[in-house]
Amino acid sequence: MRIHSTAAVKASKKQDQGKIPAAGNLSATGNYSARQEIRMIAITSGKGGVGKTNIAANLAYLLARLNQKAMVLDADAGLANIDVILGINSPYNLYHVLNGEKLLADTLVEGPGGIKILPSASGIPEMTDLSRGQKLTLIDELNVLNDSLDFILIDTGAGISSNVMYFNMAAREIIVVTTPEPTALTDAYALIKVLYQRHAKRRFRLIVNMVRNSGEAKEVYERLAHATDHFLNLTIEYLGHVLLDEKVKDAVKQQRAVAEIYPNAPATRCLAKIAENISSENVEEYEDGNIKLFWENIIGRNCG
Ligand SMILES: Nc1ncnc2c1ncn2[C@@H]1O[C@H](COP(=O)(O)OP(=O)(O)O)[C@@H](O)[C@H]1O
Ligand SMILES: [Mg+2]
Repeated sequence: MRIHSTAAVKASKKQDQGKIPAAGNLSATGNYSARQEIRMIAITSGKGGVGKTNIAANLAYLLARLNQKAMVLDADAGLANIDVILGINSPYNLYHVLNGEKLLADTLVEGPGGIKILPSASGIPEMTDLSRGQKLTLIDELNVLNDSLDFILIDTGAGISSNVMYFNMAAREIIVVTTPEPTALTDAYALIKVLYQRHAKRRFRLIVNMVRNSGEAKEVYERLAHATDHFLNLTIEYLGHVLLDEKVKDAVKQQRAVAEIYPNAPATRCLAKIAENISSENVEEYEDGNIKLFWENIIGRNCG
């Protein structure tokens, strides 16, 4: 498996501006090289209330601080969505795009640090039920974003509903968020199990949120990793932890990103470390050698 540095990916991005990339690119050496145009990362959980929306919003903000262009796609039809957390007014969302009433660019709202937000998708049909026309609209619209973004973080909502599954399948990278609470942990396991067994997802990274110290986070990781190893024969990766921090709740009340208003808060420092890890890591080629661009996954292979 060849590993592509982020710099190489960015360089290849420049050559290709304005196009939907083909399913692979012949490099100078004659090899097919994978080009992940945008890193699409699902931020997901089994149980609600574990901190997904806060993590998505703040990671996007901290990635922007690292000169990465980031968008949060709010795919959670529930309450307390990212627009509420960040105090953003959003008249339009994905629903209007899919109905052809608005262009995606018109629905994007600017958040702190210049991050883009595609507001709550509440009211949209189950993604699996989209018509062919709606899927094509989405592919056209996502293509417009191609050159203007490095990361799309998807706040998927919790559980194993078909929309949560759909967005997890569309994303190439999956970050599972849990807290040390036993129910959050068992629900995280259930989610991973379904994504692995029914949807063939194999790579999961864990963020343990609301921990008192890193030791507690490691214990939580080990418990979950032991279960996935033992029962699923699947190894999950540890991405990081976020400390339990009153400043997060304080920021939510102020409808601001904690990373913006409390740059030195313990939770911010944890999130900054995770953002640095994500932005500096190598982007690997698809394991099976085929390039599946995220929008192909979103609309389904045959566009049907
Ligand atoms: N690290 C943290 N420390 C303290 N409170 C947190 C932390 N992360 C999240 N919270 C709080 O937990 C609640 C749920 O967070 P939220 O991001 O809305 O979860 P989810 O999107 O998973 O439902 C919010 O009230 C938020 O302020
Ligand atoms: Mg949420």
